[in-house]
Amino acid sequence: MTGITTGGGLVLPRYTREDAATRTPVGFPEYRSTGLRAPLRTPVDLPHRLTEVTGPVLGEDRVLAQDADLTWRNGGEAVGQRILVHGRVLDSDGRPVPGALVEVWQANASGRYRHVVDNWPAPLDPHFDGLGRVVTDSLGRYEFLTIKPGAYPWGNHHNAWRPAHIHFSLFGRAFTQRIVTQMYFPEDPLFGQDPIFNAIPAAARHRAISRFSLERTQDNWALAFEWDIVLRGVDQTPFETEDDGDVA
Ligand SMILES: [Fe+2]
Repeated sequence: MTGITTGGGLVLPRYTREDAATRTPVGFPEYRSTGLRAPLRTPVDLPHRLTEVTGPVLGEDRVLAQDADLTWRNGGEAVGQRILVHGRVLDSDGRPVPGALVEVWQANASGRYRHVVDNWPAPLDPHFDGLGRVVTDSLGRYEFLTIKPGAYPWGNHHNAWRPAHIHFSLFGRAFTQRIVTQMYFPEDPLFGQDPIFNAIPAAARHRAISRFSLERTQDNWALAFEWDIVLRGVDQTPFETEDDGDVA
């Protein structure tokens, strides 16, 4: 038996485990704050149970169309380079994940977050809060319009700067498909000195970098970047172990 059998005889899908070779470590000495929050012992993989293989209930109707346009807040337009960020949410077998909640947060064009502890001397934008969300369509696609975030300094080491990035949080169709990650922009000159980016194993770093997509740029309006996000897939589809009497 490879899946999880419920009391009713339904065998639930088992989700693939992460590949250890490309898994970003939770502790990375050059990223100094991980020293305080990373576990000291090797995590133990637990079997997936019903809670892990069933999906979160999101109330998708609460996500509004304007949530996907970060360039307009408080009755005015944000300052900066408009960009359309788009892509697909797929599972590790290449199947689209429809109905996934994609939430983003980011710094403004000056590299400043609207956050109580972000007080470095860069201006806030009254028309930009840096928050957006969208639900993937039936083909697993998402897109949102935003402002290209600026780089910002942080205290990890002397003269440390984060490459421009957008934070993503995704709820897939099961809790095992939850992911929080960051999207970067191509050929950022700050990659080499950023320990968060470099904590990703070298073989997997390209997956965190978006692609400039000339075909989706909008004439006289916005540049475009494409980024596909891959969530773990299932080893098997649900099936029933007992005849339920349904003679189709
Ligand atoms: Fe950030």
